Amino acid sequence: MSDLRRVTRFLSPYKREVAIATVFLGLVVLADLYIPRLIQVIIDDGVAQRDMNVVLTTSLLMIGVSILEAVLSIANTLYSVKVSRGFEADLREAIFKKIQTFSFGNLDDLNTGQLLTRLTSDLTQVQMIISMGLRMFIRAPLMFIGSFGIMFAINPDLVTVILSLLPVTFLLVTFFIRFVRPLFTQVQERLDYLNQVLQENLSGIRVVKAFVRSDYENKRFEKANMELYETSLKMRQYTSIFFPIVMMLMNLGTVAIIYYGGLQVFVGKTSVGQIMAFTNYLFSTMFPVLMLSMMAGQISAASASASRIMEVLDAVPEIQDSPEAIRLDEIQGKVVFESVTFSYRDDGGDPVLTDISFTAEPGEKVALLGQTGSGKSSLINLIPRFYDANLGRVTIDGYDVKEIEMSNLRRHIGFSLQEAILFSGTIRDNIRYGRPDASDEKVVEAAKIAQAHEFIMTFPEGYDTMVGQRGVNLSGGQKQRLAIARALLVKPKILILDDSTSAVDVETEAEIENALEELMSDTTSFIVAQRISTVLKADKILVLDNGRIAAQGNHEELMETSPLYQEIYDSQLGDGGAEA
Ligand SMILES: Nc1ncnc2c1ncn2[C@@H]1O[C@H](COP(=O)(O)OP(=O)(O)OP(=O)(O)O)[C@@H](O)[C@H]1O
Ligand SMILES: [Mg+2]
Repeated sequence: MSDLRRVTRFLSPYKREVAIATVFLGLVVLADLYIPRLIQVIIDDGVAQRDMNVVLTTSLLMIGVSILEAVLSIANTLYSVKVSRGFEADLREAIFKKIQTFSFGNLDDLNTGQLLTRLTSDLTQVQMIISMGLRMFIRAPLMFIGSFGIMFAINPDLVTVILSLLPVTFLLVTFFIRFVRPLFTQVQERLDYLNQVLQENLSGIRVVKAFVRSDYENKRFEKANMELYETSLKMRQYTSIFFPIVMMLMNLGTVAIIYYGGLQVFVGKTSVGQIMAFTNYLFSTMFPVLMLSMMAGQISAASASASRIMEVLDAVPEIQDSPEAIRLDEIQGKVVFESVTFSYRDDGGDPVLTDISFTAEPGEKVALLGQTGSGKSSLINLIPRFYDANLGRVTIDGYDVKEIEMSNLRRHIGFSLQEAILFSGTIRDNIRYGRPDASDEKVVEAAKIAQAHEFIMTFPEGYDTMVGQRGVNLSGGQKQRLAIARALLVKPKILILDDSTSAVDVETEAEIENALEELMSDTTSFIVAQRISTVLKADKILVLDNGRIAAQGNHEELMETSPLYQEIYDSQLGDGGAEA
């Protein structure tokens, strides 16, 4: 509940609209309360007295009030909609912008599927309750209190008849809140789980097919689907009991009013018009009870959603600029690791990197070699501060990366992540993602170095070819080459390629390397590679083993000093294989 209250702070820009909507709503209630009174007048002063004049004028008044009420009601809805949709859009934007501030570590905690649910169905839940609230929250108590007040004024005796219905109503509402409300929450939880299964399956459907696991996945989905079905069925069954009973109570109340009222009419203590008005007011008191009970379920669903939304909004970006962060206009590109130790979790488990120390001089080519899981990606992720070292320092030109403004730091670095990710759009836009203002010549130049120009030109639309959902499907190696071109285009002083040619054939890979070498004479580059052929020409090779640097040096040095390096070399090229 408190999280639901906290998200309502996004209503604050709409204070004026909320106030106007509330005023209109108050007027609607007044009109609503006035109409039964007019019915009473028509019957008692008009029909009973055979005074056509009263009947006519009061009827006209009633028509007027009805029209006015309709207009007020529309006005209320228009303002409520404006508020709730505006609230929704603002909140959506806030969540999106918050996610943009996330560090890699935050993204490890909340995966894509979870974030997507929060931006869609959770948001809708909260928006719905706001919009309902603006139309119902004030209306229900006002109607309830107003109707009772007027009934007391008209005829206190008859009110006691209605009061006898209250305990039963109270019991019903308690039952509803006790048993049905948790079901709403459960339905929401099961829906979440179903969404998760669904999301996993849709993104992994190719794997499911490749491993012939359709039967298993069908069963898993069936189970989640059944569970959702059962709870939502139960919820609807319970609510279906609730409505008819309340309706029955209202009808019983009507009968009681007519019966006791009738007796009173006989002895002249009340009028037929009053009885008519009473039966109307009875509906005005019971209806809000019904609505509020219904909302109780919605509220618990919405507050669960609000908590999930607040979890995103409350998340603190793990990595932030220090207040005294500096900007560097130009850098030389000297990268030094000083006894760096790093782990993804601060839970004191085994660190992923231990005591890493090395120096990369400006313009040097550093190759990282090591088994899968040895920490290569983790190491290079520390340079652009995707994560922060726990112990030791990473410096660029002598400045600790933690002292440099993050956006400034990353502008000097060209990065091609291990997984090549492209956006929907043209090939050209993808390549110049980091420099949207780059000229077409620069784009072509980068593509040529990355050995992507040739295959791009085989498409009829060349660089304007759309990629992604509505465009061509690229092969893994083609995507990787576009990712390299994208990293090169920013003309970085530090270039990091994380296994960026793993899906590219050996020949093309060699061509990329040759082209890079010409271009990169004053760029410090870090190349993660699986193939030893890639590292042979490196100025410095770091051999990683289980998060530690097992050996460093150039090829010749390592062949002499590092048995692990020799082993890798032999396994790939064999004794007396290709020479450096
Ligand atoms: N985001 C993460 N959260 C927690 N642990 C991680 C994360 N990424 C990697 N690890 C762990 O850190 C260790 C090193 O992983 P890393 O990705 O650095 O290896 P790698 O040498 O790049 O392997 P590969 O050659 O397969 O890319 C592994 O044990 C891995 O399980
Ligand atoms: Mg890796």
